Amino acid sequence: MPMYQVRGEVPRKRHTQLWRDGRLLTEEVMGLRGFSGNETILYHLVTPSRIREAAGFEPVRHEEWEPASHVHRHLRTAGAEPWGDPVSGRRVLLWNEDVELSLCVPEREQEHFYRNGEADEVVFVHEGSGTLETILGDLPYVPGDYVVVPRGITHRFRTAGRQRHLVFTSPGLIEIPRRYRNEYGQLLEHAPYGNRDLHPVGELRTHDERGEFRVTVRVRRGLQTYVLDHHPFDVVGWDGYVYPWTFNIADFEPITKRVHMPPPAHQTFEGRNFVICSFCPRKLDWDPQAVPVPYAHSNLESDEVMYYAAGSYAARRGVETGSITVHPSGIAHAPQPGRAEAALGATETDEVAVMCDTFHPLRLSRFASRLDDATYAYSWNPEREAAPAPITDS
Ligand SMILES: [Fe+2]
Repeated sequence: MPMYQVRGEVPRKRHTQLWRDGRLLTEEVMGLRGFSGNETILYHLVTPSRIREAAGFEPVRHEEWEPASHVHRHLRTAGAEPWGDPVSGRRVLLWNEDVELSLCVPEREQEHFYRNGEADEVVFVHEGSGTLETILGDLPYVPGDYVVVPRGITHRFRTAGRQRHLVFTSPGLIEIPRRYRNEYGQLLEHAPYGNRDLHPVGELRTHDERGEFRVTVRVRRGLQTYVLDHHPFDVVGWDGYVYPWTFNIADFEPITKRVHMPPPAHQTFEGRNFVICSFCPRKLDWDPQAVPVPYAHSNLESDEVMYYAAGSYAARRGVETGSITVHPSGIAHAPQPGRAEAALGATETDEVAVMCDTFHPLRLSRFASRLDDATYAYSWNPEREAAPAPITDS
């Protein structure tokens, strides 16, 4: 997030001495794009390179589902069983080289520490609250938050209550759209959210502790675990532009028009070859001739993934909270028959949904295949729906 922050104690000038209890602290510059991007400078009690043991490396392999048909899909995630912790419990639904979408319904607390060494992560908290404990300080989160965790940030979730997360992971940067920012990074007046809506990491807690601590780092298509002999949160101060923050979907100010507004109006984040959008409760198109549901469309270069979080979505029949529709490129999608007529005259919507459009095709996982409602592809054809025959697709 391009806003300067400082926590704890830092020396008056960068790259100069800082002492604590007779120890010269280790200054770490954690930066993006070599030394040309945003960076944060941290002051450690112990050098961040010190490990006691390089424990195992576990490759991350996604099990692909290659369906027999290229059709629209409806993944019903509402009944997904709890699994793992807030990091190990992430089950990949869809992925390509730019982004990975996972569902996480954890069944237990996170015991050890984690960081993604090579990818940015955004966690949409559909259900649950808690605190993301990080090397830079604590970050409380509540339902509806996007928890933005840049690469390189060691952290651990502390949850309060049942959790349900939709997780985006990208080897590219996940950023505030460029068109929302001025040349200094301040959010512009026409942007659907402002700087006050962004909540950076809070209080820094320095742990000067010896013992055994495990940190798992996602790197090189796998998980490398290190055993440390000191607490990883040993930072006494930091400053810079790279840190975790939250933005709540309820703080997105919808931009509407007299006639239908397409998804770029709902854009919340931009990534490398993908976008994340927020569909929020809003007034609908007010032209007397408006059709207040989306027109049929073929985004010839996009796969569209929509996660339905709350409310009712007028254009889609059969979706429920936790549903994910996957509308791939190459074929058109549209409101189901009767939805456009039913929507005429509607003045507002209460829908809450998170969308991810990718500019390269997504692959489906075997986990996604278990959630797939195979009748969805025929939901635009009432005659075909009336005499359903199972789609043989495995
Ligand atoms: Fe669409």
